[in-house]
Amino acid sequence: MIEDTPLTDVTDEKKHELIESGDLLEHDAPFQPGETPIPKYQLAWAITGDGDGNPDHGEPLEDGAEKEAIIPVEDPGPNDALLYMLTSEVNYNDAWAITGIPVSTFEQHDRDWHVTGSGGLALVADIGDGLEEQERIEVGDLVHVYAGQFDALSPKAGRDPMYADFTIQGYQTPDGSHQQFMVAQGTQLFEPPENLNLTKAGSYILTMGTIYRALFNTLDVDPGSNLFVEGASTGTGRDAVQMATSRNMNITGLVSSDERGERALDNGADAYIDRKRPELVDAMRMVPNDPEEWDDWEAAGEPLLEEYREKNDGKLADYVVSHAGAHAFSRSYQLLDEGGRLTFFGASTGYEMAFMGKSGQTTPEAVFRRANLQAGDPTLVWYGTPADIDGTRDTVAEAAVQTALEHNARVAVITETDEQAEYVESKYDVEGTVSIETLNEESDGFEYLDSLPHLPDPSEPDALAATIGEYMGKMFKPMGIAVSELLATPNNPRGNPEVVFERAGQNTLALSTMLCAPFEGKVVFSENMSGQRYSFYAPQVWMRQRRIYMPTTEIFGTHMKNTYEVLEMNEEIELDVFDVPETHLTPWEETPKAHQDMWENNHEEGSYVINHALPDDDLQSKEELFDEWGVN
Ligand SMILES: NC(=O)c1ccc[n+]([C@@H]2O[C@H](COP(=O)([O-])OP(=O)(O)OC[C@H]3O[C@@H](n4cnc5c(N)ncnc54)[C@H](OP(=O)(O)O)[C@@H]3O)[C@@H](O)[C@H]2O)c1
Repeated sequence: MIEDTPLTDVTDEKKHELIESGDLLEHDAPFQPGETPIPKYQLAWAITGDGDGNPDHGEPLEDGAEKEAIIPVEDPGPNDALLYMLTSEVNYNDAWAITGIPVSTFEQHDRDWHVTGSGGLALVADIGDGLEEQERIEVGDLVHVYAGQFDALSPKAGRDPMYADFTIQGYQTPDGSHQQFMVAQGTQLFEPPENLNLTKAGSYILTMGTIYRALFNTLDVDPGSNLFVEGASTGTGRDAVQMATSRNMNITGLVSSDERGERALDNGADAYIDRKRPELVDAMRMVPNDPEEWDDWEAAGEPLLEEYREKNDGKLADYVVSHAGAHAFSRSYQLLDEGGRLTFFGASTGYEMAFMGKSGQTTPEAVFRRANLQAGDPTLVWYGTPADIDGTRDTVAEAAVQTALEHNARVAVITETDEQAEYVESKYDVEGTVSIETLNEESDGFEYLDSLPHLPDPSEPDALAATIGEYMGKMFKPMGIAVSELLATPNNPRGNPEVVFERAGQNTLALSTMLCAPFEGKVVFSENMSGQRYSFYAPQVWMRQRRIYMPTTEIFGTHMKNTYEVLEMNEEIELDVFDVPETHLTPWEETPKAHQDMWENNHEEGSYVINHALPDDDLQSKEELFDEWGVN
């Protein structure tokens, strides 16, 4: 039955038959909202399964994994709208969903197909009662679509809608925008800026919106300061360059050729660095695990730092925008100046984010203040665990415990030994302690690992999942349960600490970033971190928007944007504060090719949108579209 299994062998004959019976529209058919009947079935670009939930992942075009399918049209819920998609955005997360790398989001739902596509431009075809009563959106409106879905009725939405069961439609859900008719929540729908033609209007929310939040909220950039951007001539990197010029920043882009560098300059960058230049190419790699190699690795980065300084009046970067992952992250962090902040929202080349610590130290009080530690905040302190601490006393951790208690925080402590735990409990009014000595004896499966193991490449998803699963099983789960027993409250049933006080003399950052609260949980350091390697698992920091505060630098995860940030961004576009990139309107039939080009890093500058039903690439309004279609 078509309801259960999508029809993937879409022959012209089958299409014709369904069109003749009124059950399907051509993908580019004119559509008059309220007049044209909504068909029973629709065309979509999807990955499909074998009927038992096993996805047929692979490269979009090379392996034929992305197929044109015929699937049912869904009904909107009370606060939803059914949209007739005119265009749909092409984004990198489509490629992740199609290939199943590094995780199969197909396996996270129970449909036997997964339509990718996050955002686009649409006409409202039908509307739920609740949305209709609000009178903001009506049938016939031209809207563009933000791909973020959330539970608008959750009290957590009051803090930031992204904290209320947030998902990206088309990546984490199987009903993305590369289909003719898509159901969207009312909160996803916006009136496009008036100064954009229809091709551009549905092209930019996912990438530019991510950059809007990253630059102007997460990094909170100071106008006039130095910015370093990875992948500065395509996608999000390109958007970062263009949007940062509006704040008069001095922008240096990382690229892989002079041609791409020139494009970055045309877009407003002040300089570029070609990572494929012979003098740099060997240096562009992750900090190795072996301590013997750390000095050489740091020294090998000097030509990169030198080139950056030459192009920036002798200074390093105040801010970094990163997304290229393990192969790039270590050097991008090395480029950060004292007082600098790095943000990242993806990790294309690998999820093991490693960096060498920088020199400088501060006090627990100063770093708790930067992290905005509040009375009542669940707080976790590592005590006695760095290798150079013997006996019961750990003066740095004691200062951290004392200071957190003075802030009226609720403090739990991880200790190395039972003796240290007894000492801490006898001396300080803490919620309790977790002794690693006791965990070793009593907790099934616990094993103290002194760093995140080296993570396999994302192209080996099974090996990656096994390695990270083993780390979580040995470290995160037993420690998480033990800490939760000390810190859980009705509002925080998992007992996630808001703030974790980490130690320079160990590499448990991967565990601390997993333990601290999703959405702005913070890991803080006060000691001198130079000469030591640190590493963490990327998605735990970017997707959950966690933050790492160090004595002289900061690393902040960032992800997508919220509905209000879309409104703010649209206003800036309408006021010509920044522009929308050139848009490649791609024929419907070439959807798999567009994804394949992106996967192979062969795509052009600018954004790609799939053309569902625009008869022309320079239409200025819905009225012009209807004229071209010959409808009222
Ligand atoms: N969390 C979110 O909300 C969010 C939103 C949008 C995108 N993302 C993620 O962000 C990432 C980038 O997306 P995008 O749309 O910007 O993709 P994109 O247009 O393909 O850009 C990625 C760029 O990274 C650069 N790159 C590739 N390998 C590199 C390496 N080893 N070292 C340094 N740079 C390298 C390439 O530029 P050069 O070859 O010129 O250096 C490439 O053009 C993806 O992983 C995507 O899923 C996340």
